Amino acid sequence: MMKQPHYETHEPDILPQRAAELLCWITNEAIETRGVAHIAISGGATPRPLFKLLTQPRWKTCIPWTHTHIWWVDERCVPPDHPDSNYGVAYALMVQHLPVTITHRIRGEETPWKAAQLYEQELVDAFGLEAGRWPRFDLILLGMGDDGHTASLFPNTPSLAVRERLVTVGRAPSPPHTRITLTLPVLNHAAHVVFLVSGAHKGQALFDIFFLEGGDPPRPASLVRPQEGNQLWLLEREAQIAAGLQPIQNHNH
Ligand code: 6PG
Repeated sequence: MMKQPHYETHEPDILPQRAAELLCWITNEAIETRGVAHIAISGGATPRPLFKLLTQPRWKTCIPWTHTHIWWVDERCVPPDHPDSNYGVAYALMVQHLPVTITHRIRGEETPWKAAQLYEQELVDAFGLEAGRWPRFDLILLGMGDDGHTASLFPNTPSLAVRERLVTVGRAPSPPHTRITLTLPVLNHAAHVVFLVSGAHKGQALFDIFFLEGGDPPRPASLVRPQEGNQLWLLEREAQIAAGLQPIQNHNH
């Protein structure tokens, strides 16, 4: 019997604040112990209020950006100035307003497998990985679609089954269809995974994940279970209600 994932429920205006608190705690702890933090952020609409919040004075100073590497969980195969670019959105809302940032952009303008290969090599170089080793992100911030996809790992697609690579090419049902994504093993080697989920339309996928052990076939997001790490779902109130979950304000992780 799979343990129900840990979760918290928050009002829309509180959700990004809670995510910012976790980001602040995790990055400072990583830098105190190793002198560097590596975080990976997702695209989509849900993290945008968080990106804006992080440029506010309180959070801008709380997070040690000069020692924090910002990576992307996935990217659409479009140039960085395209409105669908995850990097482009994060740069406009957050990165360009921060004091110093060390960013690792997925090159969506390249051919897909070239972009995947370049990003994988950048991970190998930055984490000093030997063959067969996995990068251990301090924090991976994930979203979830109403079909239960996360990153660009969509149901019934080959990218979901990739276990021997760090980065692969994913196929989305909605345009831009071709995407570059971290693979499931990379997500599952993270120290902390935080899901940010909003929207009543995600209730069924959440119900499957929290009450039906992921559903059949398992929703991709249900396959994210860090082997030696923590996972926390931050659910916006309407998503929690739609999933039939009880409200939980604060999880003492
Ligand atoms: C992307 C994201 C994707 C996103 C989900 C949820 O590139 O779109 O990485 O996995 O997290 O689709 O998107 P919303 O936050 O817009 O619901």
